[in-house]
Amino acid sequence: MHIRLLIRRSIIGCITVLFTTHVFAGDSKLSTEHVRKLSIEQSLGHKIFFDTNLSNPVGQSCASCHDPKTAFSEPDLDSPVSSGAEIGKIGTINTPTAMYAAFIPAFHFNSEEGLFIGGQFLDGRESTLEAQAKQPFLNPDEMNNPDKANVIEKIRNATYADDFKLVFGQDALDDIDAAYNHVAAAVASFERSVIFNPFTSKYDYYLAGMVELSEQEERGLHLFEAEDKGNCAACHPSQPLDEKPPLFTDFTYDNLGVPANQKILEIKGADFVDMGLGKTVKDHPNAEAGANNGKFKVSTLRNSAKTAPYMHNGVFTSLKEVVDFYNTRDVDPRWAEPEIAAGMNTEELGDLKLSDQEVDDIVAFLRTLSDGYELDEWATIDQRNIINLPYVRIEGQNVVSRIYSVQMEKTAAAQASSQYQVTRLKELSLTDNFQQSDMPYYSLDTGILEIPAIRKTHENGKQSTYVAQFKKAFINEQLIFELSYYKEWQ
Ligand code: HEC
Ligand code: HEC
Repeated sequence: MHIRLLIRRSIIGCITVLFTTHVFAGDSKLSTEHVRKLSIEQSLGHKIFFDTNLSNPVGQSCASCHDPKTAFSEPDLDSPVSSGAEIGKIGTINTPTAMYAAFIPAFHFNSEEGLFIGGQFLDGRESTLEAQAKQPFLNPDEMNNPDKANVIEKIRNATYADDFKLVFGQDALDDIDAAYNHVAAAVASFERSVIFNPFTSKYDYYLAGMVELSEQEERGLHLFEAEDKGNCAACHPSQPLDEKPPLFTDFTYDNLGVPANQKILEIKGADFVDMGLGKTVKDHPNAEAGANNGKFKVSTLRNSAKTAPYMHNGVFTSLKEVVDFYNTRDVDPRWAEPEIAAGMNTEELGDLKLSDQEVDDIVAFLRTLSDGYELDEWATIDQRNIINLPYVRIEGQNVVSRIYSVQMEKTAAAQASSQYQVTRLKELSLTDNFQQSDMPYYSLDTGILEIPAIRKTHENGKQSTYVAQFKKAFINEQLIFELSYYKEWQ
C-alpha cells in the first residue's frame, strides 16, 4: 500500500514536472508550478502584483511595468520609460528589474567609506521593499489612485479579499492604514520569494562547478574583473561573498556621466534633469552640497540581457552600447555631453582601451547572467548498468535540502539481482532554489529514491526513458539501493 501510494505520487509528480513551463519561458504569466510553491502570504502578494483593477482607471498592475517576461522590468524594450494608467501620463525613469531588489539593504550612510548605500528606487528614496510597494498605487504617473482608501476599497471587492483576511485576520481590511501596510507586506513577501530570486543563471552553475563557460565568456569574465581592463567588478561584484552568490551591485551610487535621453526631454521639457541621489540626500548631514547630483544606484547586472534599454534614463539601447560607453566616453566624440558633468566618475571609466573583441567578450559574459539557464543533463543508465544522476535533491523533514551528484553501480556480487551501490556522492554548491525538470529526489525519511526520468541507450542506438524507484537497504553493513519499481515511458 505504502509503496503503491508512493509510486502513484511519483508518476503524478512526473507528469506535473513534464508539463511545467519555465518562469522565464518568455511568458507574462507565471507557471502554476511556481505559484503553487508560494506561501499563502506570497501567493496573496502575487495576486495583488498582477491585479489590473488596482489602478485608476483600471488596467494597470505592478506587472504591467515589471513583467516576468522581461525579468520583471518594462516589457516594451523600445521604451525608455513606462506609461501610467492614465492616458498621456509617463514616468521619467527607466523601469528597473524588480528581481533581487529584496537584497537591497536599507538606505544608510557608511561613515567608514563615506558613502551612501542601499535603498529602493534608483535614488534610494525609500528604505525597504514594503515602503517601496506603497508608492506606485498612488503615483499619478503610475497607478494613479487618489488615496489609500481607494486602493483598499478595491481590495475589499477583489476575488482575493478572503485570502487577505486569512493571512492578516478577519478585521484586516477595516482600518485603512493598517490594511495598506498589509498590502505592502504581502507584495514584499512575494518579491522575496524564489520567483524573484532564483539564482539559476549559467554563471551561477559555473560558480557551482557544474558547467563551463565558453572561451569567449571566460575571457569576458576575466576582462570584467581585471582592474586594468573593464574593472566592472569594482562596482558590480562578481564573486560570492560569505558564500552568498554575487548580486552584481555593491548598492553604492555613482555618476557615470550618462548623456540625457532626448526622448525624455521631448516629453518633460528641454531643461528636465534628474538629480538622482542628490535629491534624496539634499538635507542629509553627511552630504556635501551638490556632490551627489547625478548619482544613481549601481544596477544589478543579473538578467540585464533582458532589460533593455539601459541606465536610469534608458539612453542606451544595447549592452554593447553600454560597454562601448564605459570604454570610450572620454575619447569618442559620438557620446553627447553628460547629463550632469560635475562629480562625474573619471577614475574608473571613460577610456578603458578595450579592443572591439574585448567589448564583445564582456557582453558575452553579461549574457551568462540571465536566469532560467537549462542544464541539459539527463539521468542515465548505461549498458554496464552504471547509473549516473547529475543532480539529486536529498531532503528530509528537519534538514535543509541539498543537491548532490550521484553515481551507482550494480554490485558485483549481485549481477542478476537489482542491487546498486553508490560509487560517487558529491555535494554541489547550489541553493535550494535549484530546479531542473525531472530531477530525482531522495527522502532521508523514507529511504526512497525517485527518478522521474532516466534514459538508457541500447546497443542498437535506440533510447528508452524510464520512471524508476529505489529503496535503501543495508546488506552486510553496506549501503545498497534496491530497484523497487521501474516502468518505461510511453
Ligand atoms: C508605470 C510603471 C510602474 C508600475 C505600475 C510599477 N512600477 Fe515599480 N518601478 C517603476 C519605475 C520607473 C521604477 C524606478 C523609479 C525610480 O527609481 O525613481 C520602479 C522601481 C521599482 C522597484 C525598485 C527597484 C530598485 O532597484 O530600486 C521595485 C521593487 C518596484 N518598482 C516594485 C513595484 C511594485 C511592487 C509595483 C506595484 C505596487 C510597481 N513597482 C509598480 C515603474 C513601475
Ligand atoms: C564606478 C562604478 C561602476 C563601474 C566601474 C561600472 N559600473 Fe556599470 N553601473 C554603475 C552605475 C552607478 C549604474 C547605473 C547608472 C544609471 O542608472 O545611470 C550602472 C549601470 C550599468 C548597466 C545598466 C544596467 C541597467 O539595467 O540599466 C550595465 C549593463 C553596466 N552598468 C555594466 C557595466 C560594465 C560591463 C562595466 C565594466 C566595463 C561597468 N558596468 C562598470 C556603476 C559602475
